[in-house]
Amino acid sequence: MDGFKDIRGKEIINKLKTSKSIITGGAGFIGSNLADHLIRIGHKVIVLDNFVSGKKSNLDHHKKNDLRIINIDISKSKKLDKYFKGADYVFHLAALAQIIPSIKNPEKYFKNNVLGTLNVVKAAKKVKIKKLIYAASSSCYGTPKKIPTSEKDKIDLKHPYAATKFIGETIVMKYASMFKMPNISFRFFNVYGPRLTISGQYSAVIGNFLSQKKNKKPLTIVGNGRQTRDFIHVDDLVDAFLKAIKSKSFNKIYNLGSGKKTSINAIAKIFGGKKKFIPIRPGEPKNSLANISKIKKDIKWRPKISIEQGLKKLLDN
Ligand SMILES: NC(=O)c1ccc[n+]([C@@H]2O[C@H](COP(=O)([O-])OP(=O)(O)OC[C@H]3O[C@@H](n4cnc5c(N)ncnc54)[C@H](O)[C@@H]3O)[C@@H](O)[C@H]2O)c1
Repeated sequence: MDGFKDIRGKEIINKLKTSKSIITGGAGFIGSNLADHLIRIGHKVIVLDNFVSGKKSNLDHHKKNDLRIINIDISKSKKLDKYFKGADYVFHLAALAQIIPSIKNPEKYFKNNVLGTLNVVKAAKKVKIKKLIYAASSSCYGTPKKIPTSEKDKIDLKHPYAATKFIGETIVMKYASMFKMPNISFRFFNVYGPRLTISGQYSAVIGNFLSQKKNKKPLTIVGNGRQTRDFIHVDDLVDAFLKAIKSKSFNKIYNLGSGKKTSINAIAKIFGGKKKFIPIRPGEPKNSLANISKIKKDIKWRPKISIEQGLKKLLDN
């Protein structure tokens, strides 16, 4: 960032201190989009990632002095605080993030997501950050009884992935109340946008459709396709992060979705092409929709990108 000049054009002290942000999981889909936005507004970013699902190529376009990448497993390292020194903000996104593999290997998910979160929160506590944002998941609502679902509604943990993300959230919020840490937990609904994972058998619906369209295969639709989800574009999600770090809000949990429901058939219609219907999968909710009144009121955020606009942008690219 440029320094100020005095009346004779001489460079004087740079009054605008550059913010330093840590992103765990910064080489992944959401983390790399967040890195782009933070660097654009002048932050220095440190990414901590072990590349279990993230990719170096998601970050290749950044200059070395804006971004530092540390190849590290946050669940194994007890010395994260050395990277956290001088950090203003911590965005904790690193996690194993798929449902079926979590059922097959719960211990791995528990170690990675729960111990990983504990290590990150402990390190952040040592260095006194301005805000810690945790990536929680709407999967904590399981099969929601109330639609739209608010933060106060029932927790219903259906699989180890949901459980590990919810335990992580509990740790983050306990540290906020016990040690007055400035922590916020966002329960993401279905996030989509550039760099969404499209490979692998467990990628989410929009990722699957992108891969099927690319490979000229029919779009696979679970059940009758009338089930609905709340899809939020990653740019809207990142905008909420940026509003949250500037806000006075802390020790709070917020739903982070679009507040709009879209059926799988409607998504398939936007993609176009042939469809193939496959049997329903047990344990998946019929509908999922975020009540976003709390975040709208507290941090004055609202989603701006409609699913039609967001998908068009994604398909054009
Ligand atoms: N994408 C969604 O719709 C969605 C919904 C709800 C919650 N979330 C949460 O958001 C976060 C980011 O999700 P994403 O979609 O970008 O997933 P992603 O898999 O693209 O990103 C996760 C990143 O974390 C890294 N990582 C995992 N374990 C690590 C460890 N032990 N040490 C260091 N790095 C590690 C991976 O390499 C990857 O870069 C996750 O915590 C996920 O649970 C995502």
